[in-house]
Amino acid sequence: MKNILFVVGSLRQGSFNHQLAEKAEKALEGKASVTYLNWKDVPVFSQDLEANAPASVQTAREAVLAADAIWIFSPVYNFAIPGSVKNLLDWLSRALDLSDTTGASALQDKIVTISSVANGGHEPLFAAYNALLPFIRTQAVGDFTGISVNPEAWGTGELVVAEDKLAAVAAQADALLEATK
Ligand SMILES: Cc1cc2nc3c(=O)[nH]c(=O)nc-3n(C[C@H](O)[C@H](O)[C@H](O)COP(=O)(O)O)c2cc1C
Repeated sequence: MKNILFVVGSLRQGSFNHQLAEKAEKALEGKASVTYLNWKDVPVFSQDLEANAPASVQTAREAVLAADAIWIFSPVYNFAIPGSVKNLLDWLSRALDLSDTTGASALQDKIVTISSVANGGHEPLFAAYNALLPFIRTQAVGDFTGISVNPEAWGTGELVVAEDKLAAVAAQADALLEATK
């Protein structure tokens, strides 16, 4: 089975993007194995840290290298990619062998798709990812899915996703798997 790495771009307990990831995991059940990237300890990027990359970065790189594809579940912060997620991608975009900084990173040629739970800003978010992903030498696949937060979720904490959106997530899962063949 293919190994799909989930990157949940929110570290918040009860994250709606994490809840969406769990629904996507169901869509992949029996078709692929899913692992969640642990990136909470990845520090703010500094080139001074690169020569001796922290263990959290090494672990993240290894998880990315072992993945057949990556699915990012990204919040929208101020109509843009959250700085924390961009920071993670900046780390991962760096060459594995620093003697050639133009050389391959852990992300080289990775297949990536994006989903996002937010209330506004899906379009600029997806445009930003569509600009970034080729630049960091990944291949964007599938129709990115933008999900709105159901209003009562702010009280209940539970994300409810409409059937048509769940079907779109399932189609995205299939497109991601197809791209790994
Ligand atoms: C710094 C910041 C900026 C935000 N900007 C937006 C935004 O542009 N659009 C939006 O719909 N929600 C915005 N939100 C609200 C988030 O979408 C909301 O907190 C959401 O629950 C985050 O996803 P999560 O539940 O996975 O943590 C923002 C939240 C924060 C903390």
